[in-house]
Amino acid sequence: MKIGLVGAGSVGATIAYACQIRGVAQTIAIYDIDPKKTRAEVLDLNHGLQFTPVASVIGSDDIEVLRDSDVIVTTAGAKQRPGQTRMDLAATNVAMMQSLMKQCMSVAPDALHLVVTNPCDVVTYAALKASGLPPSRVFGSGTVLDSSRFRYLLAQHAGVAVQNVHGYVLGEHGDSEIAIWSRANIGMVPIDEYVGASGVALDETGKREIFDQVVNAAYEIIEGKGATWYAVGLAVTRIVEAVLHDESRVLPVSTYLEDYKGISDVCLSVPCVVNRNGVERILDVPMSDAELGGLRASADQVRGVARALGL
Ligand code: LAC
Repeated sequence: MKIGLVGAGSVGATIAYACQIRGVAQTIAIYDIDPKKTRAEVLDLNHGLQFTPVASVIGSDDIEVLRDSDVIVTTAGAKQRPGQTRMDLAATNVAMMQSLMKQCMSVAPDALHLVVTNPCDVVTYAALKASGLPPSRVFGSGTVLDSSRFRYLLAQHAGVAVQNVHGYVLGEHGDSEIAIWSRANIGMVPIDEYVGASGVALDETGKREIFDQVVNAAYEIIEGKGATWYAVGLAVTRIVEAVLHDESRVLPVSTYLEDYKGISDVCLSVPCVVNRNGVERILDVPMSDAELGGLRASADQVRGVARALGL
């Protein structure tokens, strides 16, 4: 199996590193327009091969290095600076993606495409439209990362391992995302009934505090270290594993919605079955009227930015 990475920045390099450690693919190929950076990342990764599962790590500023990739992950593009929202990057990164998509398809016509570049949902929609491929084959990392942040904070409240917390953040990977509290549970105990380590169940104030930390996480980290890369790198690696290992994992990736609870013609994160076919199926999640209203509002936000760019 071969993973192709477009972008040798902090996120792309971290995805390569995580895939190498987890033995996700036999070949990890990195493409970036900066030959020095690409060579440096490839050298640094190869020097650690003694300590990881066998893999071939290659890279170039020639897109040919991505030839015959099974999945291509795009992280390239302008990055959020302190004070910027992800949507502020839309015009620049959509234009880049539209050009890049055709180049990637020329060297890897059978690849699945996983978009990480922000604003993820809008850029995924642009990539899908530019590709002419079926929606199953072009999708975004979406709120897999946000759901991981959400679960971490719930686990802290509950005093249990994060693996035993089940909860999703859906919608935009961004400011209009929503937490599906009505379905969140810890070891089958609904979150509203779970008495946490503090001896009390989460009230509305506690929920708001947790959600605010989720939706503002990237801003806080960017203020502190200039960008995020570890958690998003691990989240993307989990998605790539589900594809290359044909796992049929349920993940809230950003996918094209044709008619999801009345939501249409937008890429947005909802729980999907992800495997070798890409997004094989979308799960119809029961949610409260308020949550559905939030999801529709998020769809309007994302669709509005896409329409403003002529998509
Ligand atoms: C974040 C970036 C990946 O949320 O959008 O950390």
